[in-house]
Amino acid sequence: MSGDLMASGRRPGGRAPDEGATAVAHPNIALIKYWGKRDERLFLPWTDSLSMTLDIFPTTTSVRLDAAAGADVVTLNGAPAHGEALRRVSAFLDLVRERAGLRQRAVVHSENTVPTGAGLASSASGFAALAVAAARAYGLGLDATGLTRLARRGSGSASRSVFGGFVVWHAGTTAGTDTEADLSSYAEPVPVSHDALDPALVVAVLDAGPKEVSSRGAMRRTVDTSPLYRPWARSSADDLTEMRDALLRGDLAAVGEIAERNALGMHATMLAARPAVRYLSPATLTVLDSVLQLRRDGVAAYATMDAGPNVKVLCARADAQRVAGAVRAAVPGRAVHVAGPGPGARLTGEDE
Ligand code: PMV
Repeated sequence: MSGDLMASGRRPGGRAPDEGATAVAHPNIALIKYWGKRDERLFLPWTDSLSMTLDIFPTTTSVRLDAAAGADVVTLNGAPAHGEALRRVSAFLDLVRERAGLRQRAVVHSENTVPTGAGLASSASGFAALAVAAARAYGLGLDATGLTRLARRGSGSASRSVFGGFVVWHAGTTAGTDTEADLSSYAEPVPVSHDALDPALVVAVLDAGPKEVSSRGAMRRTVDTSPLYRPWARSSADDLTEMRDALLRGDLAAVGEIAERNALGMHATMLAARPAVRYLSPATLTVLDSVLQLRRDGVAAYATMDAGPNVKVLCARADAQRVAGAVRAAVPGRAVHVAGPGPGARLTGEDE
């Protein structure tokens, strides 16, 4: 970036700084989990992970450069962001500014339809939408793979929400320079025939409040103190290989079995951390029991849980209403949603 461009505030592509951009992204749920960073600064994980992007709970984020502002202004669902939320968005924008060679601060508006902080991957859709909008607003000119690397720096799981459907995020390598390490860790779609698999995820929202321990802190504690972490990370590599095969041959029951054991293993690593991290609640176990009963009744349904008590149940779309009914009966009064495979992140309206 030349000094002239810096001074004029214009970016390659010739867009004026106040044009801005708006992007929409959907959450993803990992079937092979990301749990643990080996490089916290570059957001490089210990293990590969694999997810399904959902068609519900989108986040829409606009980014407009403001040459007159002395600091980034961020609103989340209409309320000004402060504290850690503001710091994370601003640190992410610093990275974008550094790459663009621009100094202008930004006005960011984000509307999130997923309950924030409840282990329902709000950070995934949030940072994927922010990455796509900010990259355009600051004129970074990234392709989709580049956007997955950028989104990763906001929240690891966000890298996977750049693409729709089933997506793998490669752990990459920490060998070599920062640039080499950064380039090695990106997400890409897994070519799965949705028609053959026809999957649904039944999402039981058991607690929509913010979590007590952030996933970042919980990951760190698990990696540092859990004797089960390394064995899980090793077995997760095998799970991923088996999962890919199961996806490609359209074997939903095998996909579900592998996803459930991978998630339970991840929670086992946390329960063995010192002190333990326990996201699963009594209501979580009640839903897990209902999933077991569904299987006894011949329905292929399999559960997965993230950094919160909520349960997502993978099943065939044809069984989704029956599964949702069983889950509702198990935890009356809790919201239960049915999701299918959703689209990747994209610019909206005039910004496309
Ligand atoms: O990207 P983060 O920091 O929100 O971590 C997400 C971790 C899990 O949701 C628990 C697993 C995953 O792969 O999404």
